Parts: sequence; C-alpha cells; structure tokens
Amino acid sequence: MRGIILCQSKYGASKKYAEWIAEETGFKIVETKKADINIVEKFDVVVLGGGVYASSISGITFLRKNISRLRGKKVCVFCCGAAPYDEEVIESVRKKNLKDELSGIPMFYGPGMWDLEGMKFGDKAMCKLYIKMLSKKDPAEISAWEKPFLDAKDKKCDWTDKKYIEPLIDLIKSKGEK
Ligand SMILES: Cc1cc2nc3c(=O)[nH]c(=O)nc-3n(C[C@H](O)[C@H](O)[C@H](O)COP(=O)(O)O)c2cc1C
Repeated sequence: MRGIILCQSKYGASKKYAEWIAEETGFKIVETKKADINIVEKFDVVVLGGGVYASSISGITFLRKNISRLRGKKVCVFCCGAAPYDEEVIESVRKKNLKDELSGIPMFYGPGMWDLEGMKFGDKAMCKLYIKMLSKKDPAEISAWEKPFLDAKDKKCDWTDKKYIEPLIDLIKSKGEK
C-alpha cells in the first residue's frame, strides 16, 4: 500500500504528529502548499494534517479543491489545536471543515502545542487580544474550547502524544475500508 502525508504546520505540532505517522507507516511527508495533485492521486492512501487556526484546519483547501481526483482512495485528516481531546470540540471542528463533498472523510485529533512568545507577530497580537477578551468573561461561561487558551496564556505547552495517532494508524492498516 502506497501512501503520502500532506502536512501544513506553522509551529511544529502537526509536523510532529506527521512524523509519528510516517514512522508507523513508512509514508513520505510533503508540505501541503507544495503538493501536486498529479502526484498525490497516484497514492492509495492520502493523510492530510494541519494545525487548527480560528477553527479551520491548515491546508484543508487542498482536499476541497482536489477531492474529485481522490475518489476511491483512502483519505483521512489529522489535526491538532490548543483545545484538549474533547468529543464536542472535535465534532465542531469536523463539522466546520469536513462538510459537503468532504463529509465522509474520517478526521482524527490530537492536542498540539502553544508558545505565545514564540508566535509570529500577527498571531501573538491576535492571541493576546483573545486571551484578554476571555479573561473578562464570566468563568462559568468559558467553554472547553476556550479554557486552554486561558490556562496556557504565556506558558510554553506541548500536549502532543503519539497515542493520538493510534486510531488513524488502525484505519490506515485496516483492509478494504475507504
Ligand atoms: C492565531 C491562532 C489561532 C488559533 N486558533 C485555534 C483554534 O481555533 N482552535 C484550537 O484548538 N487551537 C487554535 N490555535 C492553536 C494551534 O492550533 C496550536 O498551536 C497548534 O498546535 C498549531 O499547530 P501547528 O504548529 O502544526 O501549526 C490557534 C493558534 C493561533 C496562533
């Protein structure tokens, strides 16, 4: 079985997950921005991975644009964010990113990384503003989605864990299922 991992990672978290997936499968990693559908469509398995930014998965537009060329392939998505592993949060990311023609695609989630000081200027400004806004909210109104931003603030966090790729690896190794 031949497969490829497409990954768009800004701060290294989804890249770390992509490397664990590569370790388990032997698939090559290609940066999504540089991926060529004429090459990608030659593989039996396509894994697309990326960080979650304002609820959108980095690089998901590649699948949106090219899904018709990937019919019959085993396609799956892996994403990571600051949010903890929580079914409700994961479902909301899935609904936002995998709708219409992407709706049947399996999506897997793992908590990522957070380093406010290490962020690029625009990201840092946006996150600082967001944290400021959250800190003014009634604590009872803070959702599971928002809490990690408040808890992490300016702490450097790495929540990644190889265990989160296990269901994806099981799916890739299962026979027949697409
Ligand atoms: C501007 C910005 C927006 C973000 N939005 C979200 C979000 O909506 N949900 C979430 O869980 N994490 C969010 N994060 C956290 C990232 O998803 C997290 O740091 C992830 O590990 C990044 O993955 P990457 O390093 O592979 O790009 C955001 C981070 C930044 C800098």
